[in-house]
Amino acid sequence: MDLTALPEWQKLQEHKGEIGQRHLRDIFWGDATRAERFSLHAADIFADYSKNRVTDQTMELLFDVARARQVEQLRDAMYAGEKINTTEQRAVLHTALRNQSERQVFVDGRDVMPDVRRVLQHMREFTARVWNGDWRGYTGKQITDIVSIGIGGSNLGPVMVTEALRHYATPHLAVHFVSNIDGTQFSETIRTLNPETTLFVVVSKTFTTDETMTNAATAKKWLLAALGDEQAVANHFVAVSTNAQAVAAFGIDTANMFEFWDWVGGRYSLASAVGLSIMLAIGAEQFDELLRGMYAMDVHFKIAPLEQNMPVILALVGIWNTNFLGIKTEALLPYDQYLHRFPAYFQQGNMESNGKSVTKTGQFITDYSTGPIVWGEPGTNGQHAFYQLIHQGTDMVACDFIGFAQSLNNPDGMETHHRKLTANMFAQAQALAFGKTPDEVRAEGVPAELVNHKVFHGNRPSNTLLLPKLTPYTLGQLIALYEHKIFVQGAIWGINSFDQWGVELGKKLAKDIDTTLQNVDSLEPYDQSTRALIAAWRQLQ
Ligand code: F6P
Repeated sequence: MDLTALPEWQKLQEHKGEIGQRHLRDIFWGDATRAERFSLHAADIFADYSKNRVTDQTMELLFDVARARQVEQLRDAMYAGEKINTTEQRAVLHTALRNQSERQVFVDGRDVMPDVRRVLQHMREFTARVWNGDWRGYTGKQITDIVSIGIGGSNLGPVMVTEALRHYATPHLAVHFVSNIDGTQFSETIRTLNPETTLFVVVSKTFTTDETMTNAATAKKWLLAALGDEQAVANHFVAVSTNAQAVAAFGIDTANMFEFWDWVGGRYSLASAVGLSIMLAIGAEQFDELLRGMYAMDVHFKIAPLEQNMPVILALVGIWNTNFLGIKTEALLPYDQYLHRFPAYFQQGNMESNGKSVTKTGQFITDYSTGPIVWGEPGTNGQHAFYQLIHQGTDMVACDFIGFAQSLNNPDGMETHHRKLTANMFAQAQALAFGKTPDEVRAEGVPAELVNHKVFHGNRPSNTLLLPKLTPYTLGQLIALYEHKIFVQGAIWGINSFDQWGVELGKKLAKDIDTTLQNVDSLEPYDQSTRALIAAWRQLQ
Protein backbone atom coordinates (compact mmCIF):
# COMPACT_ATOMS: atom_id res chain seq x y z
CA MET A 1 0.00 0.00 0.00
CA ASP A 2 1.11 3.56 -0.69
CA LEU A 3 2.86 4.93 2.38
CA THR A 4 0.58 7.92 2.84
CA ALA A 5 -2.55 5.75 2.50
CA LEU A 6 -1.53 3.58 5.45
CA PRO A 7 -3.86 4.01 8.42
CA GLU A 8 -0.76 4.14 10.65
CA TRP A 9 0.66 7.02 8.61
CA GLN A 10 -2.64 8.86 8.65
CA LYS A 11 -2.81 8.53 12.42
CA LEU A 12 0.57 10.25 12.57
CA GLN A 13 -0.81 13.01 10.35
CA GLU A 14 -3.65 13.58 12.80
CA HIS A 15 -1.25 13.39 15.71
CA LYS A 16 0.95 16.02 14.08
CA GLY A 17 -2.01 18.37 14.17
CA GLU A 18 -2.21 17.81 17.91
CA ILE A 19 1.43 18.16 18.89
CA GLY A 20 3.23 19.54 15.83
CA GLN A 21 3.45 23.05 17.25
CA ARG A 22 4.12 22.17 20.88
CA HIS A 23 7.34 23.68 22.08
CA LEU A 24 10.09 21.51 23.53
CA ARG A 25 9.95 23.73 26.60
CA ASP A 26 6.36 22.60 27.17
CA ILE A 27 7.09 19.03 26.22
CA PHE A 28 9.82 18.87 28.88
CA TRP A 29 7.85 20.87 31.43
CA GLY A 30 6.67 18.76 34.36
CA ASP A 31 7.99 15.54 32.82
CA ALA A 32 10.74 14.52 35.20
CA THR A 33 11.57 11.24 33.44
CA ARG A 34 11.60 12.43 29.84
CA ALA A 35 15.40 12.33 29.42
CA GLU A 36 15.39 8.80 30.80
CA ARG A 37 12.51 7.58 28.62
CA PHE A 38 13.82 9.17 25.44
CA SER A 39 17.36 7.86 25.60
CA LEU A 40 18.97 4.45 25.34
CA HIS A 41 22.24 2.55 25.27
CA ALA A 42 23.34 0.25 22.47
CA ALA A 43 26.77 -1.36 22.72
CA ASP A 44 28.94 1.60 23.85
CA ILE A 45 26.72 4.34 22.47
CA PHE A 46 24.40 6.42 24.58
CA ALA A 47 21.79 8.24 22.50
CA ASP A 48 19.65 11.02 23.88
CA TYR A 49 16.75 11.81 21.54
CA SER A 50 14.66 13.62 24.13
CA LYS A 51 15.27 16.99 22.44
CA ASN A 52 13.05 16.00 19.54
CA ARG A 53 9.46 17.14 19.22
CA VAL A 54 8.11 13.70 19.98
CA THR A 55 5.96 12.34 22.78
CA ASP A 56 5.40 8.77 23.95
CA GLN A 57 2.44 8.65 21.63
CA THR A 58 4.46 9.92 18.67
CA MET A 59 6.96 7.15 19.18
CA GLU A 60 4.22 4.52 19.51
CA LEU A 61 2.66 5.65 16.25
CA LEU A 62 6.06 5.67 14.55
CA PHE A 63 6.73 2.12 15.73
CA ASP A 64 3.35 1.17 14.24
CA VAL A 65 4.45 2.62 10.90
CA ALA A 66 7.71 0.64 11.10
CA ARG A 67 5.72 -2.54 11.70
CA ALA A 68 3.28 -1.76 8.92
CA ARG A 69 6.20 -1.23 6.55
CA GLN A 70 7.66 -4.57 7.67
CA VAL A 71 10.99 -3.12 8.76
CA GLU A 72 11.87 -6.22 10.78
CA GLN A 73 11.09 -8.58 7.90
CA LEU A 74 13.12 -6.47 5.48
CA ARG A 75 16.02 -6.32 7.92
CA ASP A 76 15.95 -10.10 8.26
CA ALA A 77 15.81 -10.45 4.48
CA MET A 78 18.93 -8.28 4.20
CA TYR A 79 20.85 -10.32 6.78
CA ALA A 80 19.72 -13.53 5.10
CA GLY A 81 21.21 -12.54 1.74
CA GLU A 82 17.94 -12.06 -0.13
CA LYS A 83 18.25 -9.92 -3.25
CA ILE A 84 16.71 -6.81 -1.73
CA ASN A 85 18.54 -4.57 -4.21
CA THR A 86 15.86 -5.39 -6.73
CA THR A 87 16.84 -3.04 -9.55
CA GLU A 88 20.27 -4.66 -9.74
CA GLN A 89 19.16 -8.11 -8.56
CA ARG A 90 21.76 -8.15 -5.80
CA ALA A 91 21.96 -9.20 -2.20
CA VAL A 92 23.00 -6.52 0.31
CA LEU A 93 25.42 -8.13 2.71
CA HIS A 94 27.80 -5.62 4.21
CA THR A 95 26.84 -7.23 7.53
CA ALA A 96 28.51 -10.48 6.36
CA LEU A 97 31.81 -8.59 6.03
CA ARG A 98 31.96 -8.08 9.77
CA ASN A 99 30.17 -11.22 10.89
CA GLN A 100 32.18 -12.44 13.87
CA SER A 101 30.04 -15.50 14.52
CA GLU A 102 30.09 -18.94 12.95
CA ARG A 103 26.79 -18.14 11.20
CA GLN A 104 26.80 -19.05 7.52
CA VAL A 105 25.51 -16.46 5.06
CA PHE A 106 24.19 -17.70 1.76
CA VAL A 107 23.94 -15.98 -1.61
CA ASP A 108 22.56 -18.14 -4.41
CA GLY A 109 22.97 -21.22 -2.23
CA ARG A 110 26.66 -20.54 -1.48
CA ASP A 111 28.06 -19.56 1.92
CA VAL A 112 29.99 -16.32 1.41
CA MET A 113 31.79 -16.43 4.77
CA PRO A 114 34.79 -18.54 3.63
CA ASP A 115 35.46 -15.97 0.87
CA VAL A 116 35.13 -13.10 3.33
CA ARG A 117 37.64 -14.72 5.68
CA ARG A 118 40.02 -15.63 2.84
CA VAL A 119 40.21 -12.04 1.57
CA LEU A 120 40.64 -10.70 5.11
CA GLN A 121 43.53 -13.11 5.56
CA HIS A 122 45.04 -11.95 2.25
CA MET A 123 44.77 -8.34 3.46
CA ARG A 124 46.41 -9.22 6.78
CA GLU A 125 49.31 -11.02 5.10
CA PHE A 126 49.84 -8.21 2.65
CA THR A 127 49.73 -5.57 5.39
CA ALA A 128 52.27 -7.53 7.42
CA ARG A 129 54.58 -7.75 4.40
CA VAL A 130 54.38 -4.01 3.74
CA TRP A 131 54.88 -3.20 7.42
CA ASN A 132 57.86 -5.50 7.92
CA GLY A 133 59.54 -4.60 4.65
CA ASP A 134 59.11 -7.98 3.01
CA TRP A 135 57.12 -6.27 0.24
CA ARG A 136 59.48 -3.84 -1.44
CA GLY A 137 59.51 -1.46 -4.35
CA TYR A 138 61.08 -2.40 -7.69
CA THR A 139 64.49 -1.03 -6.70
CA GLY A 140 64.46 -2.92 -3.40
CA LYS A 141 63.48 -0.06 -1.13
CA GLN A 142 60.88 -0.36 1.62
CA ILE A 143 57.46 1.20 1.02
CA THR A 144 56.96 4.49 2.86
CA ASP A 145 53.83 5.86 1.18
CA ILE A 146 50.53 4.38 0.10
CA VAL A 147 48.41 6.24 -2.43
CA SER A 148 44.86 4.93 -2.55
CA ILE A 149 43.14 5.80 -5.82
CA GLY A 150 39.36 5.52 -5.85
CA ILE A 151 36.24 7.65 -5.65
CA GLY A 152 32.85 7.69 -3.93
CA GLY A 153 32.34 4.52 -1.93
CA SER A 154 35.85 3.44 -2.92
CA ASN A 155 37.31 6.50 -1.21
CA LEU A 156 35.09 8.20 1.36
CA GLY A 157 35.02 5.35 3.88
CA PRO A 158 38.79 4.72 3.86
CA VAL A 159 39.46 8.48 4.08
CA MET A 160 37.01 8.94 6.92
CA VAL A 161 38.31 5.98 8.94
CA THR A 162 42.02 6.62 8.42
CA GLU A 163 41.45 10.20 9.57
CA ALA A 164 39.26 9.10 12.48
CA LEU A 165 41.83 6.53 13.61
CA ARG A 166 44.97 8.55 12.91
CA HIS A 167 45.83 8.21 16.60
CA TYR A 168 46.17 4.43 16.10
CA ALA A 169 48.13 4.56 12.83
CA THR A 170 51.68 3.39 12.29
CA PRO A 171 54.12 6.30 11.99
CA HIS A 172 56.14 4.34 9.43
CA LEU A 173 53.68 4.49 6.56
CA ALA A 174 51.87 7.56 5.22
CA VAL A 175 48.52 6.89 3.56
CA HIS A 176 47.30 9.37 0.93
CA PHE A 177 44.13 9.47 -1.14
CA VAL A 178 43.44 10.59 -4.68
CA SER A 179 39.83 10.64 -5.84
CA ASN A 180 39.10 13.69 -7.96
CA ILE A 181 39.63 13.66 -11.70
CA ASP A 182 41.03 17.15 -11.20
CA GLY A 183 44.74 16.54 -11.79
CA THR A 184 45.55 18.95 -9.01
CA GLN A 185 44.84 16.31 -6.39
CA PHE A 186 47.17 13.78 -7.99
CA SER A 187 49.90 16.36 -8.63
CA GLU A 188 49.80 17.76 -5.11
CA THR A 189 49.74 14.27 -3.59
CA ILE A 190 52.78 12.93 -5.40
CA ARG A 191 54.75 16.19 -5.24
CA THR A 192 56.87 15.03 -2.30
CA LEU A 193 56.68 11.27 -2.92
CA ASN A 194 59.43 9.02 -4.17
CA PRO A 195 58.22 6.56 -6.86
CA GLU A 196 60.67 3.95 -5.54
CA THR A 197 58.93 3.84 -2.16
CA THR A 198 55.32 4.51 -3.20
CA LEU A 199 52.66 1.83 -3.51
CA PHE A 200 49.38 2.55 -5.31
CA VAL A 201 46.20 0.79 -4.22
CA VAL A 202 43.66 1.16 -7.02
CA VAL A 203 40.20 0.71 -5.56
CA SER A 204 37.21 0.35 -7.84
CA LYS A 205 34.35 -2.08 -7.66
CA THR A 206 33.79 -1.90 -11.41
CA PHE A 207 37.36 -0.94 -12.43
CA THR A 208 35.77 1.23 -15.11
CA THR A 209 35.10 4.47 -13.19
CA ASP A 210 36.58 7.25 -15.29
CA GLU A 211 38.06 9.27 -12.43
CA THR A 212 39.82 6.24 -10.95
CA MET A 213 41.03 4.83 -14.24
CA THR A 214 42.35 8.22 -15.35
CA ASN A 215 44.21 8.73 -12.07
CA ALA A 216 45.52 5.15 -12.11
CA ALA A 217 46.83 5.58 -15.68
CA THR A 218 48.56 8.82 -14.66
CA ALA A 219 50.06 7.09 -11.63
CA LYS A 220 51.41 4.34 -13.86
CA LYS A 221 52.98 6.90 -16.22
CA TRP A 222 54.55 8.73 -13.25
CA LEU A 223 55.99 5.50 -11.93
CA LEU A 224 57.29 4.28 -15.29
CA ALA A 225 58.81 7.66 -16.09
CA ALA A 226 60.94 7.26 -12.97
CA LEU A 227 61.61 3.52 -12.95
CA GLY A 228 61.56 2.88 -16.70
CA ASP A 229 60.43 -0.76 -16.66
CA GLU A 230 56.89 -2.21 -17.04
CA GLN A 231 57.93 -4.88 -14.53
CA ALA A 232 57.91 -2.21 -11.82
CA VAL A 233 54.10 -2.06 -11.96
CA ALA A 234 53.89 -5.39 -10.13
CA ASN A 235 55.79 -4.00 -7.13
CA HIS A 236 54.00 -0.67 -7.01
CA PHE A 237 50.34 -1.42 -7.82
CA VAL A 238 47.74 -3.57 -6.16
CA ALA A 239 44.02 -3.53 -6.84
CA VAL A 240 40.78 -3.83 -4.91
CA SER A 241 37.94 -4.78 -7.22
CA THR A 242 35.22 -7.18 -8.26
CA ASN A 243 36.49 -7.11 -11.86
CA ALA A 244 39.54 -9.38 -12.23
CA GLN A 245 39.58 -9.09 -16.01
CA ALA A 246 39.88 -5.30 -16.01
CA VAL A 247 42.50 -5.46 -13.23
CA ALA A 248 44.62 -7.82 -15.35
CA ALA A 249 44.12 -5.64 -18.45
CA PHE A 250 45.50 -2.67 -16.49
CA GLY A 251 48.66 -4.69 -15.85
CA ILE A 252 48.15 -5.61 -12.21
CA ASP A 253 48.85 -9.23 -11.32
CA THR A 254 45.52 -10.66 -10.11
CA ALA A 255 47.48 -12.38 -7.31
CA ASN A 256 47.75 -8.84 -5.96
CA MET A 257 44.07 -8.16 -6.33
CA PHE A 258 41.90 -8.02 -3.23
CA GLU A 259 38.51 -9.22 -4.18
CA PHE A 260 35.06 -8.18 -3.11
CA TRP A 261 31.66 -9.04 -4.44
CA ASP A 262 28.60 -7.54 -6.09
CA TRP A 263 26.67 -7.91 -2.81
CA VAL A 264 28.85 -5.20 -1.26
CA GLY A 265 27.56 -1.74 -2.18
CA GLY A 266 30.26 0.89 -2.71
CA ARG A 267 29.08 3.13 0.13
CA TYR A 268 28.81 0.13 2.47
CA SER A 269 32.18 -1.34 1.57
CA LEU A 270 34.77 -0.10 4.03
CA ALA A 271 34.74 -3.40 5.95
CA SER A 272 35.62 -5.26 2.74
CA ALA A 273 38.92 -5.16 0.86
CA VAL A 274 38.03 -1.53 0.10
CA GLY A 275 39.33 -0.97 3.63
CA LEU A 276 42.82 -2.19 2.66
CA SER A 277 44.27 1.31 3.02
CA ILE A 278 42.71 1.47 6.50
CA MET A 279 44.40 -1.78 7.46
CA LEU A 280 47.70 -0.56 6.01
CA ALA A 281 47.39 2.53 8.20
CA ILE A 282 46.26 1.02 11.50
CA GLY A 283 47.25 -2.64 11.21
CA ALA A 284 45.23 -5.85 11.15
CA GLU A 285 44.43 -5.98 14.86
CA GLN A 286 42.88 -2.54 14.95
CA PHE A 287 41.03 -3.26 11.70
CA ASP A 288 39.58 -6.36 13.36
CA GLU A 289 38.47 -4.15 16.26
CA LEU A 290 36.66 -1.91 13.78
CA LEU A 291 34.86 -4.96 12.37
CA ARG A 292 34.01 -6.14 15.87
CA GLY A 293 32.48 -2.75 16.63
CA MET A 294 30.37 -2.88 13.49
CA TYR A 295 29.30 -6.40 14.37
CA ALA A 296 28.23 -5.30 17.87
CA MET A 297 25.82 -2.80 16.30
CA ASP A 298 24.74 -5.32 13.64
CA VAL A 299 23.72 -7.71 16.42
CA HIS A 300 21.90 -4.96 18.30
CA PHE A 301 20.01 -3.94 15.16
CA LYS A 302 19.11 -7.54 14.46
CA ILE A 303 17.88 -8.60 17.88
CA ALA A 304 16.71 -5.55 19.83
CA PRO A 305 12.96 -5.01 19.80
CA LEU A 306 11.96 -1.96 17.76
CA GLU A 307 11.26 0.05 20.92
CA GLN A 308 14.83 -0.47 22.15
CA ASN A 309 16.57 -0.46 18.83
CA MET A 310 18.85 2.53 18.37
CA PRO A 311 19.08 2.61 14.55
CA VAL A 312 15.29 2.15 14.37
CA ILE A 313 14.60 4.92 16.87
CA LEU A 314 16.95 7.39 15.19
CA ALA A 315 15.42 6.52 11.84
CA LEU A 316 11.88 7.02 13.10
CA VAL A 317 12.71 10.34 14.72
CA GLY A 318 14.21 11.33 11.36
CA ILE A 319 11.01 10.28 9.57
CA TRP A 320 8.99 12.41 11.99
CA ASN A 321 11.24 15.40 11.35
CA THR A 322 11.32 14.97 7.57
CA ASN A 323 7.79 13.91 6.78
CA PHE A 324 5.70 15.49 9.50
CA LEU A 325 7.64 18.54 10.66
CA GLY A 326 8.93 19.33 7.16
CA ILE A 327 12.60 19.45 8.20
CA LYS A 328 14.46 18.51 5.03
CA THR A 329 18.03 18.67 6.18
CA GLU A 330 20.21 16.98 8.78
CA ALA A 331 23.54 18.19 10.11
CA LEU A 332 26.07 15.70 11.43
CA LEU A 333 28.11 17.55 14.01
CA PRO A 334 30.92 15.49 15.48
CA TYR A 335 32.60 17.13 18.45
CA ASP A 336 35.85 15.40 17.67
CA GLN A 337 38.39 16.67 15.18
CA TYR A 338 39.31 13.10 14.19
CA LEU A 339 35.80 12.70 12.79
CA HIS A 340 36.14 15.62 10.42
CA ARG A 341 35.26 13.49 7.38
CA PHE A 342 32.39 11.68 9.10
CA PRO A 343 29.74 14.07 7.70
CA ALA A 344 31.14 13.72 4.17
CA TYR A 345 31.13 9.95 4.50
CA PHE A 346 27.50 9.80 5.56
CA GLN A 347 26.57 12.46 3.06
CA GLN A 348 27.19 9.82 0.41
CA GLY A 349 25.92 7.03 2.67
CA ASN A 350 22.61 8.75 3.16
CA MET A 351 22.07 10.82 0.03
CA GLU A 352 23.15 8.19 -2.50
CA SER A 353 21.05 5.61 -0.64
CA ASN A 354 17.87 7.51 0.06
CA GLY A 355 17.89 10.39 -2.43
CA LYS A 356 15.26 8.62 -4.52
CA SER A 357 11.84 9.49 -5.89
CA VAL A 358 10.74 6.10 -7.19
CA THR A 359 9.43 3.29 -5.04
CA LYS A 360 10.76 -0.25 -5.22
CA THR A 361 7.75 -1.10 -7.35
CA GLY A 362 8.56 1.67 -9.82
CA GLN A 363 6.02 4.33 -8.88
CA PHE A 364 7.05 7.98 -8.75
CA ILE A 365 6.77 9.39 -5.25
CA THR A 366 4.74 12.56 -5.28
CA ASP A 367 3.25 12.92 -1.82
CA TYR A 368 6.07 12.51 0.67
CA SER A 369 9.73 13.39 1.00
CA THR A 370 12.56 10.88 1.11
CA GLY A 371 16.23 11.34 2.02
CA PRO A 372 17.22 14.58 3.71
CA ILE A 373 20.11 16.79 2.69
CA VAL A 374 23.03 15.73 4.89
CA TRP A 375 26.05 17.86 5.70
CA GLY A 376 28.15 19.00 8.62
CA GLU A 377 31.47 20.01 10.09
CA PRO A 378 33.16 19.21 13.35
CA GLY A 379 32.39 21.30 16.41
CA THR A 380 33.34 23.94 17.41
CA ASN A 381 34.39 25.14 13.95
CA GLY A 382 30.81 24.86 12.73
CA GLN A 383 29.62 27.05 15.57
CA HIS A 384 31.62 29.94 14.16
CA ALA A 385 30.34 29.32 10.65
CA PHE A 386 26.81 28.08 10.06
CA TYR A 387 25.23 27.71 13.51
CA GLN A 388 23.74 31.19 13.14
CA LEU A 389 21.29 29.72 10.62
CA ILE A 390 20.72 26.62 12.70
CA HIS A 391 19.68 28.77 15.66
CA GLN A 392 17.87 31.65 14.03
CA GLY A 393 17.29 30.83 10.35
CA THR A 394 13.80 30.52 8.89
CA ASP A 395 14.36 26.85 8.06
CA MET A 396 14.92 24.08 10.54
CA VAL A 397 17.94 21.77 10.55
CA ALA A 398 17.79 18.53 12.52
CA CYS A 399 21.14 18.08 14.25
CA ASP A 400 23.06 15.06 15.45
CA PHE A 401 25.73 15.91 18.00
CA ILE A 402 28.37 13.22 18.42
CA GLY A 403 30.90 13.37 21.23
CA PHE A 404 33.27 11.31 23.35
CA ALA A 405 33.71 11.36 27.11
CA GLN A 406 37.47 10.88 26.92
CA SER A 407 39.88 12.67 24.65
CA LEU A 408 42.75 10.95 22.89
CA ASN A 409 44.82 14.09 23.28
CA ASN A 410 44.79 15.17 26.87
CA PRO A 411 48.39 15.70 27.87
CA ASP A 412 49.23 17.86 30.85
CA GLY A 413 48.16 21.40 30.35
CA MET A 414 45.46 20.53 27.78
CA GLU A 415 42.76 19.16 30.09
CA THR A 416 40.56 22.19 29.54
CA HIS A 417 40.24 21.58 25.79
CA HIS A 418 38.12 18.50 26.04
CA ARG A 419 35.97 19.80 28.84
CA LYS A 420 35.26 23.00 26.92
CA LEU A 421 34.59 21.08 23.73
CA THR A 422 32.02 18.95 25.51
CA ALA A 423 30.46 21.94 27.24
CA ASN A 424 29.98 23.52 23.83
CA MET A 425 28.29 20.43 22.45
CA PHE A 426 25.85 20.16 25.33
CA ALA A 427 25.21 23.92 25.21
CA GLN A 428 24.35 23.93 21.52
CA ALA A 429 21.77 21.18 21.91
CA GLN A 430 20.32 23.00 24.92
CA ALA A 431 20.13 26.33 23.09
CA LEU A 432 18.51 24.74 20.02
CA ALA A 433 15.84 23.03 22.08
CA PHE A 434 14.93 25.66 24.62
CA GLY A 435 16.07 28.93 23.09
CA LYS A 436 15.61 32.26 24.80
CA THR A 437 12.26 34.01 25.01
CA PRO A 438 11.65 37.76 24.47
CA ASP A 439 10.96 38.06 28.21
CA GLU A 440 14.28 36.46 29.04
CA VAL A 441 16.04 38.77 26.59
CA ARG A 442 14.32 41.85 28.05
CA ALA A 443 15.17 40.72 31.58
CA GLU A 444 18.83 41.00 30.56
CA GLY A 445 18.27 44.69 29.92
CA VAL A 446 18.53 44.45 26.14
CA PRO A 447 17.19 47.63 24.45
CA ALA A 448 13.74 47.16 22.91
CA GLU A 449 14.95 47.55 19.31
CA LEU A 450 17.37 44.64 19.74
CA VAL A 451 15.07 42.24 21.54
CA ASN A 452 13.86 40.36 18.45
CA HIS A 453 17.40 40.04 17.16
CA LYS A 454 18.42 38.34 20.36
CA VAL A 455 15.46 36.01 20.67
CA PHE A 456 16.07 32.29 20.12
CA HIS A 457 12.79 30.58 19.31
CA GLY A 458 14.28 27.19 20.14
CA ASN A 459 12.12 24.11 19.48
CA ARG A 460 14.82 22.88 17.11
CA PRO A 461 15.33 19.13 17.27
CA SER A 462 18.58 17.33 17.92
CA ASN A 463 19.99 13.98 18.99
CA THR A 464 23.12 13.68 21.09
CA LEU A 465 25.27 10.58 20.83
CA LEU A 466 27.83 10.08 23.53
CA LEU A 467 30.56 7.44 23.44
CA PRO A 468 33.31 6.70 25.95
CA LYS A 469 36.34 7.13 23.70
CA LEU A 470 37.15 7.12 20.00
CA THR A 471 38.58 3.67 19.29
CA PRO A 472 38.32 1.36 16.27
CA TYR A 473 35.68 -0.56 18.23
CA THR A 474 33.45 2.43 19.03
CA LEU A 475 33.92 3.94 15.56
CA GLY A 476 32.73 0.65 14.06
CA GLN A 477 29.57 0.86 16.17
CA LEU A 478 28.91 4.42 15.10
CA ILE A 479 29.30 3.61 11.40
CA ALA A 480 26.96 0.62 11.57
CA LEU A 481 24.44 2.67 13.55
CA TYR A 482 24.11 5.21 10.76
CA GLU A 483 24.10 2.54 8.06
CA HIS A 484 21.17 0.81 9.69
CA LYS A 485 19.35 4.07 10.31
CA ILE A 486 19.52 4.70 6.55
CA PHE A 487 18.24 1.18 5.90
CA VAL A 488 15.21 1.64 8.15
CA GLN A 489 14.28 4.96 6.57
CA GLY A 490 14.60 3.49 3.07
CA ALA A 491 12.35 0.61 4.13
CA ILE A 492 9.70 3.01 5.41
CA TRP A 493 9.86 5.20 2.32
CA GLY A 494 9.56 2.05 0.19
CA ILE A 495 12.64 2.84 -1.89
CA ASN A 496 15.68 0.82 -2.90
CA SER A 497 18.50 2.24 -0.75
CA PHE A 498 21.12 0.20 -2.57
CA ASP A 499 21.14 1.40 -6.17
CA GLN A 500 22.28 4.78 -7.51
CA TRP A 501 20.82 5.36 -10.96
CA GLY A 502 20.88 9.08 -10.34
CA VAL A 503 24.61 9.27 -11.00
CA GLU A 504 24.39 7.77 -14.50
CA LEU A 505 23.09 10.59 -16.69
CA GLY A 506 25.80 13.07 -15.75
CA LYS A 507 28.51 10.44 -16.36
CA LYS A 508 27.16 9.69 -19.84
CA LEU A 509 26.81 13.36 -20.81
CA ALA A 510 30.34 14.08 -19.55
CA LYS A 511 31.68 11.40 -21.90
CA ASP A 512 29.90 13.00 -24.88
CA ILE A 513 31.10 16.47 -23.97
CA ASP A 514 34.63 15.21 -23.40
CA THR A 515 34.64 13.87 -26.97
CA THR A 516 33.43 17.23 -28.25
CA LEU A 517 36.10 19.07 -26.27
CA GLN A 518 38.84 16.83 -27.70
CA ASN A 519 37.72 16.87 -31.30
CA VAL A 520 36.42 20.39 -31.76
CA ASP A 521 33.15 18.72 -32.83
CA SER A 522 30.11 20.65 -33.85
CA LEU A 523 28.09 22.06 -30.97
CA GLU A 524 24.84 21.36 -32.79
CA PRO A 525 23.62 18.50 -30.55
CA TYR A 526 23.80 20.60 -27.40
CA ASP A 527 21.30 22.86 -25.73
CA GLN A 528 21.87 26.59 -26.01
CA SER A 529 23.42 27.08 -22.60
CA THR A 530 25.87 24.17 -22.91
CA ARG A 531 26.84 25.37 -26.40
CA ALA A 532 27.63 28.82 -25.02
CA LEU A 533 29.67 27.37 -22.18
CA ILE A 534 31.72 25.15 -24.49
CA ALA A 535 32.30 28.04 -26.87
CA ALA A 536 33.40 30.30 -24.00
CA TRP A 537 35.72 27.61 -22.64
CA ARG A 538 37.32 27.11 -26.06
CA GLN A 539 37.92 30.81 -26.34
CA LEU A 540 39.40 31.05 -22.85
CA GLN A 541 41.68 28.10 -23.51
O1 F6P B 1 29.03 7.70 -7.52
C1 F6P B 1 28.60 6.54 -8.13
C2 F6P B 1 29.38 5.33 -7.74
O2 F6P B 1 28.91 4.26 -8.47
C3 F6P B 1 29.34 5.04 -6.24
O3 F6P B 1 28.24 4.36 -5.83
C4 F6P B 1 30.59 4.28 -6.07
O4 F6P B 1 30.92 4.25 -4.73
C5 F6P B 1 31.55 5.07 -6.92
O5 F6P B 1 30.77 5.46 -8.02
C6 F6P B 1 32.79 4.36 -7.37
O6 F6P B 1 32.55 3.22 -8.12
P1 F6P B 1 33.69 2.14 -8.35
O7 F6P B 1 34.06 1.57 -7.04
O8 F6P B 1 33.08 1.12 -9.27
O9 F6P B 1 34.86 2.83 -9.00
